[in-house]
Amino acid sequence: MEKVIIAGGTGLVGHHLKKLLIDNGHKVVLVSRRPGKDTQTWNDLERFGIQDDVTAVVNVAGENILNPLKRWTPEFMEAVRSSRIDTSKKLASYIAKSKSPPKVFASISGVAGYKPSPTEVYTEDSPVQDFDFLSKLVIDWEAASRLPECVKTRQFTVRSGVVLAGDGGMIQQLYPSYYFGGGGKIGKGTQWLPWIHVHDLAGIFHHGIITDSVTGVLNGVSPHSVTNTEFSEALAKSMWRPALVPGFVNEAVIKVMFGSERAKIILEGQKVSPEKTLKNGYKYKYTDINEACKAAVANFSLKRSA
Ligand SMILES: NC(=O)c1ccc[n+]([C@@H]2O[C@H](COP(=O)([O-])OP(=O)(O)OC[C@H]3O[C@@H](n4cnc5c(N)ncnc54)[C@H](OP(=O)(O)O)[C@@H]3O)[C@@H](O)[C@H]2O)c1
Repeated sequence: MEKVIIAGGTGLVGHHLKKLLIDNGHKVVLVSRRPGKDTQTWNDLERFGIQDDVTAVVNVAGENILNPLKRWTPEFMEAVRSSRIDTSKKLASYIAKSKSPPKVFASISGVAGYKPSPTEVYTEDSPVQDFDFLSKLVIDWEAASRLPECVKTRQFTVRSGVVLAGDGGMIQQLYPSYYFGGGGKIGKGTQWLPWIHVHDLAGIFHHGIITDSVTGVLNGVSPHSVTNTEFSEALAKSMWRPALVPGFVNEAVIKVMFGSERAKIILEGQKVSPEKTLKNGYKYKYTDINEACKAAVANFSLKRSA
């Protein structure tokens, strides 16, 4: 049995990871900005450090980049960076200072360090490049999670694609337009959409925590890549709705909603392969986009279950 602390455990990914870990007999404590049940605040962690019986630390904290209520201002961009980089640095330093360090430190990052391309296929061995705000964020975020070499804690990072779930993330945002029959491809529709069902993302973290040989970067995407058009058709089908060409939410709307820098996350994409994740023995539940959308829609909820 592991005792795992999850920073950002109140969010979509953290919530599903917490459930999966508890279902598998592990103990979980969350790290949050707010106090709560089975929760330590960041201040508690600063004061008391990581408890000796903690065997794994996971960081999935981060200000929601695609929050349509937040404008892409310098202040918001700073919050996006610091909520990932500062939390990672803090956790790494608490682990380094710990008298009885955890066995494993796992963190999340994104696929934005792989330059969007219609033809390139990126594996975990592909170099990450600094070509815009988000790619630089990935580089700095991953660097912040690196532990000093003297620390014996095993470390891995999951570069996640777009997370599909019924209780948060992209499907929750798109649900109303599809529900009213106005869903459809966004932009050209030929751009890749690296996706993963939240069950598998949580599963990759769980597998990595309990498997001593897992280290380094794992791509957290489905082995079967789809384009934006294929995704929108699967989502529409799972809701028994048509997929319009284009849908209500078109390229211009996305650029107005998010600003052009952020809109790139939706309007451009990269084909990412989870070669090492598979080699490391993770068995996906959802490799088919239709099944993943069906499962997410079946679990649609505006509130996360406890
Ligand atoms: N969802 C996706 O499609 C996706 C794809 C790729 C990568 N990721 C990455 O995965 C991580 C988790 O994503 P998610 O979808 O679970 O996000 P989420 O639902 O928005 O939850 C993130 C959690 O991070 C904490 N947080 C938010 N703003 C913060 C701030 N300014 N400072 C410190 N903590 C803050 C919050 O916890 P408290 O309020 O309890 O402090 C929140 O519950 C993020 O870093 C995200 O970039 C997500």
